[in-house]
Amino acid sequence: MGQEIESILHEQRTFVPSAVFSKQAHVKSLAAYKRQYERAAAEPEKYWAQIGRALHWYQKWNHVLDWQPPFAKWYVGGKLNLSHNCLDRHLKDKGDRLALVWEGEPGDFRRFTFRELHTEVCKFANVLKKQGIQVGDRVAIYMPMIPEAAIAMLACARIGATHSVIFGGFSATAVRDRVLDAGAKAIVTADGGWRRGKIVPLKPAVDAALSECPGVEKVVVVRRCRNEIAMKDGRDSWWHQEMEGASPECFPEHLDSNHPLFILYTSGTTGKPKGIYHSTGGYLAYATATAKNIFDLKADDIHWCTADIGWVTGHSYVLYGILSNGVATMMYEGAPDYPDPARLWKMVERHRPTIFYTAPTAIRAFIKWGAEHVRGRDLSSLRLLGTVGEPINPEAWIWYHRTVGQGRCPIVDTWWQTETGAALIAPLPGAIPTKPGSATLPFFGIEPEIVDETGAPCPPGKGGYLVIKKPWPGLMLGIWRDGERYKQTYWERFSGKYFAGDGAHVDKDGYFWIMGRIDDVVNVAGHRLGTMEVESACVSHPAVAEAAVVGRPDSLKGQALVTFVSLRPGQMPGKDLAESIKAHVSKEIGAIARPDDVRFTQALPKTRSGKIMRRLLRDIASGAETQGDVTTLEDFSVVEKLRQQAGQEE
Ligand code: WT7
Repeated sequence: MGQEIESILHEQRTFVPSAVFSKQAHVKSLAAYKRQYERAAAEPEKYWAQIGRALHWYQKWNHVLDWQPPFAKWYVGGKLNLSHNCLDRHLKDKGDRLALVWEGEPGDFRRFTFRELHTEVCKFANVLKKQGIQVGDRVAIYMPMIPEAAIAMLACARIGATHSVIFGGFSATAVRDRVLDAGAKAIVTADGGWRRGKIVPLKPAVDAALSECPGVEKVVVVRRCRNEIAMKDGRDSWWHQEMEGASPECFPEHLDSNHPLFILYTSGTTGKPKGIYHSTGGYLAYATATAKNIFDLKADDIHWCTADIGWVTGHSYVLYGILSNGVATMMYEGAPDYPDPARLWKMVERHRPTIFYTAPTAIRAFIKWGAEHVRGRDLSSLRLLGTVGEPINPEAWIWYHRTVGQGRCPIVDTWWQTETGAALIAPLPGAIPTKPGSATLPFFGIEPEIVDETGAPCPPGKGGYLVIKKPWPGLMLGIWRDGERYKQTYWERFSGKYFAGDGAHVDKDGYFWIMGRIDDVVNVAGHRLGTMEVESACVSHPAVAEAAVVGRPDSLKGQALVTFVSLRPGQMPGKDLAESIKAHVSKEIGAIARPDDVRFTQALPKTRSGKIMRRLLRDIASGAETQGDVTTLEDFSVVEKLRQQAGQEE
């Protein structure tokens, strides 16, 4: 079969938007979507100019795009301020309306109107200035999911400091590496954050990291948990004390459209994390347009994206893309199952969000915890659901649709990456019929394509590599201080096209089915199989809660399929169950995908954003030592347990 990636998932169901939803939507029909898509494809610069005009500019751009492959600059010569676009411009009409509702894990909550949020942001911007932070400086933000994290980000944007948010679950080593790479001058942090009733200390990790980061001059600390921490004279100060005397007025810097707004580190397949950095104007224009159309945002919406603000999803769809549309956003500090698995649904009752956006891994956890925690809750405020982060298995999609959406809410499965700034492939919920497991069709102005090894386009139904043919405003500016790696990683594999690193295929209706990362592809007897599809079949077995499939070297077949599964409550691991799972997969997708091994585990090793770390599982499956960067792993003990088990089996 050569190098083709075979697609073996056969999902047939289609969900057409309801007339009620379509009628009120920004884009109301498939025909309207297609018309606008074609218009954007025919005259991209004209289309992107229109998207750019949705923002407020102090000075208009000279040209829409300066494309010096592979470097794109958007709205060149334009000047704007992101915090002005997210806050100031809404004050006149919406100053007293809700901008941010937040709930802490212990049950405390806070609400901010646009005016209140604006005041906090201006004050903190003045604090940063007083600390000596200037346009172009980098500021690291290492915080729990508390309003101050959002305020700090917006304050950086206001004064033109480039922020680098480091997820609050990372270790001191990860903080050190990111701070050093970005050359950060200050860090905003907290004493700690709440997670499952316990304090996760943050400041001690900052102290440990900073012993090796001489460039950091100032540390501002939010008092959240009142855990005992050390404060270093001259370097560290308390947020609440600094804010006391700060002026509530702060001039928004008029920044160049291509001024770097943020750096966000993402793991590569090997070693050192990549500092993906984004522009101000292009990024915000694209985040704003996609948020408006994909989440069908309206003035009365309350948008709840459960992602941590330390991921790109949090940047674009907790904060910037939502506030820039003048819509309220919702944040939660803690664990979704604390103090019990109904936590999130009780929060829906309390705060009445209208949109709920989460990851497939969370949905599978909800399924595992049981539908009884969702049923009986008043979820009538919800009108739209979304997913992001990995391919969603159709089982989970259907459960989400029925149990959380009560059959009423469209689901937008949004495909994108840290590098792409915002969603590229996703349904517009009033226009595009959905198929469980497909991210459906590209956003306006986006031209994806599936190509084979040689770069030739694949016909419908044939799996290949997902590329994007033209730049778009949300495209990263590059990898921080590593232009060469940017070129090599994304643009050299298929010359002149953006290579996303994902496998995918297009069906006869032009729908995109993402098959997962290319490095998650296994080759069994010359057939390249997307592991996600085998996992999807495993998870449709009634005893299985979650599954991860990897290849291990096999002298006969090239690679053998090893499946790691965690079971639903009440299920017992055993030989018979293993056989039953193998038979089930074989029945679902054919003998080629029949797992050679089934290994039972309590939990799968995941990154903090919920991605299964297949690299680690591959090492375990083949009995090798774990290599490379594991700083993003959520719970390392999982790997140790799996390894011990593997040892016992041999
Ligand atoms: C990778 C990007 C985008 C924010 C969260 C992750 C996978 C993402 C989907 C989806 C199938 C998806 C891809 C992509 N992915 N969304 N809807 N369907 N796969 O950001 O950490 O940069 O990861 O996540 O493999 O390349 P990220």
